[in-house]
This record gives sequence, structure tokens and C-alpha cells, in this order.
Amino acid sequence: MKTKLILLACVAVLGFLGVCQGLLTKNFYKNSCPSAESTVNQIISQRVLTNPSLPARLLRMHFHDCFVRGCDGSILLNSTANSIAEKDALINLNLASFDVIDEIKAALETACPRTVSCSDILALAARDAVSFQYNRNLWVVLTGRRDGTVSLASEPPLNLPTPDMNFTRLKQNFANKGLSQQDLIVLSGGHTIGIGHCFLFRSRLYNFTGNGDQDPSLDPTYATFLKTQCPNDNTDFVSSVEMDPASSTNVDTNYYSNLLQKKGLFSSDAALLTNNDARNAVIQLVKIDRFLNAFANSMERMGAIGVLTGTAGQIREKCWLVNSST
Ligand code: HEM
Ligand SMILES: *[C@@H]1O[C@H](CO)[C@@H](O)[C@H](O)[C@H]1NC(C)=O
Ligand SMILES: *[C@@H]1O[C@H](CO)[C@@H](O)[C@H](O)[C@H]1NC(C)=O
Ligand SMILES: *[C@@H]1O[C@H](CO)[C@@H](O)[C@H](O)[C@H]1NC(C)=O
Repeated sequence: MKTKLILLACVAVLGFLGVCQGLLTKNFYKNSCPSAESTVNQIISQRVLTNPSLPARLLRMHFHDCFVRGCDGSILLNSTANSIAEKDALINLNLASFDVIDEIKAALETACPRTVSCSDILALAARDAVSFQYNRNLWVVLTGRRDGTVSLASEPPLNLPTPDMNFTRLKQNFANKGLSQQDLIVLSGGHTIGIGHCFLFRSRLYNFTGNGDQDPSLDPTYATFLKTQCPNDNTDFVSSVEMDPASSTNVDTNYYSNLLQKKGLFSSDAALLTNNDARNAVIQLVKIDRFLNAFANSMERMGAIGVLTGTAGQIREKCWLVNSST
């Protein structure tokens, strides 16, 4: 009865937003693979200890999965002879640590063959990696996602936001995924960890309007520092900086306090200050309790975008390869 109601609600919501949380459940693998969630946690904990970049990598990978065909693990598929996959799209070229997902998948295929989806593994791995420093889960990951069978390099650029977007476009991009303005502001807080490549914000430093000028929405002292890290060279695609200076492996609210000092790295970060309501929300999110609470809510919403459940999709045996049909 309850399931039917949820199903109905889902169909109604699905039509509008492409978002349906109802079919995911807590601890979906409780009976079918009791060790699923603890195996993810164990491997992630080990890997984060020796790789402080891992939380940022997996968080961004999960985001890029969910915004393209929903959270269906399509980001994990490799290109084939006939088709270039999402991961080989320009916007995804700096994604890394797919090997950690493959390692978890291999362990779970041994423990419970053909049971735990790659999309669930990625959602759990991102949560566990980001949560590691807190020694507790920062958000709930519902499970029961299944894996998609299609991954096309043409789709990420049509679905993912880019660092040059203004507030209107960012808001529209998130709305297209059923996410709100609040989700946009809160999930941008993911930039509290990780790095950004200079080529994605260089024009803010050296040639903002085409007259050799600087972006006036960028703090001049910070711009001077960024110039020491990022040469004025349009052929440089390798230089990078911490997005959240001095705490780029720490999940904290420095992203928001820096933003308020005009030290957001990308135009898309700075754009959050160009709308009055959004600016007020940013001010609120400097409080760590508010941020963690809001981040949990928004991550749960993001993790439910366009999920495949029930008999849709498949449980891939290898995360980088669609099952052969035989
Ligand atoms: C609001 C629109 C967003 C834009 C325009 C955007 C753009 C970017 C860009 C350009 C980078 C740098 C990539 C590179 O230099 O290789 C980046 C990195 C990152 N983004 Fe976003 N992003 C957005 C939202 C999000 C969301 C929703 C999350 C997750 C909740 C997220 C998490 C991250 C993380 C963790 C990194 C660092 C990755 C690493 O260090 O490996 N971003 N983002
Ligand atoms: C799949 O792609 C990843 C990253 O793009 C690469 O490291 C890996 O070697 C590929 N796996 C296979 C089996 O081709
Ligand atoms: C935002 O960007 C779009 C496309 O680049 C542009 O058409 C629009 O006028 C911009 N909106 C604002 C408020 O600047
Ligand atoms: C700045 O941009 C303009 C227009 O895109 C270009 O013509 C000019 O060469 C650039 N100047 C520098 C210093 O890169």
C-alpha cells in the first residue's frame, strides 16, 4: 500500500522534474549483500588516508554522473570502438580515481556477484570519502539505483554547468535537474574541497573584457596571488590552484567566507553574490551547522536525480563496461 502510494507520487513528480526519491530505500542491500556498505566504507577509508584528493574527486564524479542521464553510473563507462563515452568529454577530462570505484566493485563482485550497482557504489563512495574527516556520515545515501547502459561524450556539455555561467544560467541549469536555487547555493559549497585549473578562470586575471583587464568582482590581492600560480599563457592547461585556499582538503565553510570577500575562484562562484536572495543565503551558510545540514539535504536530492530502479537498467559486472547481452 505504502509502496504503491510512493510509486504514484513518483510518477507524478517524475513527469515534472525527472526526480524521484521514492524508489530508493535505506540499506537496499541489507539482505542481498549485507557487507555492501561496510565494504565501500572500508576501502574508501584506506584510500583517503593515502590520497587527500580522493574526496574531491569522488564528489565531483558523483555530481557529473547525476547531472547526465541521472545517477546511473554512466560517468564510469569507458569509450568503445563505436562510441565515445562521457568520461572522455572535455569537461570530464580531469576526473580521476575511477580505479578506486573499480576496486570496490571487484570486492563486491566477489562477495555478492551481480548485486550491487556501480551507481550506488559511486554515491556511497563519494559520501564516505567526504565524510571521512568527520568520522560520521554527513548525509544519508539511499540505495537501489541501477546502472545505465548508455554513455555519450556529447551529453555532458549539454547538461553540466560551466564556470563562466551567470546566476540566471546556473539557476536554470539546476532547475533542469529538478534542483532549486537553494540547492545551487548549497551544492556550490562542494568547492570547499579540490582544485581548479587556471585555464578555467584565467581571463578573470588577465583579460576579462578583452582589454587586458581584471574581473572587478575578484579581490585584487587574491588576483595578484592567483597570477603567481597561473601564467598569462593561453596554451597552459596544466596549472591549477586550490579552490578553497589553505583548506582545500577540509570540508568547512571557508568557501562561503572567501566568497563574501570576493575570493571565489570561478565566475560561477562569484555569480552567487549577484542575486540578493542568494547573497543572503551565502551569509547564512558561513555557519558550519547550517551548511552541513543544508548540504546533507541537497546531496540527498542530487543523489536521486533520474535514478533507474526496479527492473530498469542493469547491475554492471564491471563499472567501466556494459554487460554483454549473452
Ligand atoms: C554550480 C555549478 C558548478 C560549476 C560551474 C562547477 C565547476 C567546476 C569546475 C570548473 C571545476 C574545476 C575542474 C578542474 O579544474 O579540473 C570544479 C571542481 C570541483 N567541483 Fe564543481 N562546479 C559546480 C558545481 C559543483 C557541485 C554541485 C559539486 C558537488 C556537490 C561540485 C564539486 C566539485 C569538486 C569537489 C571539485 C574539485 C575536483 C577535484 O579537485 O578533483 N561542483 N567545478
Ligand atoms: C577505462 O578508463 C579508465 C579511465 O578513463 C582507464 O584508466 C582504464 O584503463 C580503462 N579501462 C579499460 C579496461 O580499458
Ligand atoms: C546571463 O548569460 C546569458 C547567456 O550568456 C545572457 O543572455 C543573459 O543576458 C545573462 N543574464 C544576466 C542577468 O546577465
Ligand atoms: C584579450 O582578448 C582580446 C579579445 O579576445 C584579444 O584580442 C587580445 O589579444 C587579448 N589580450 C591579451 C593580452 O591576451
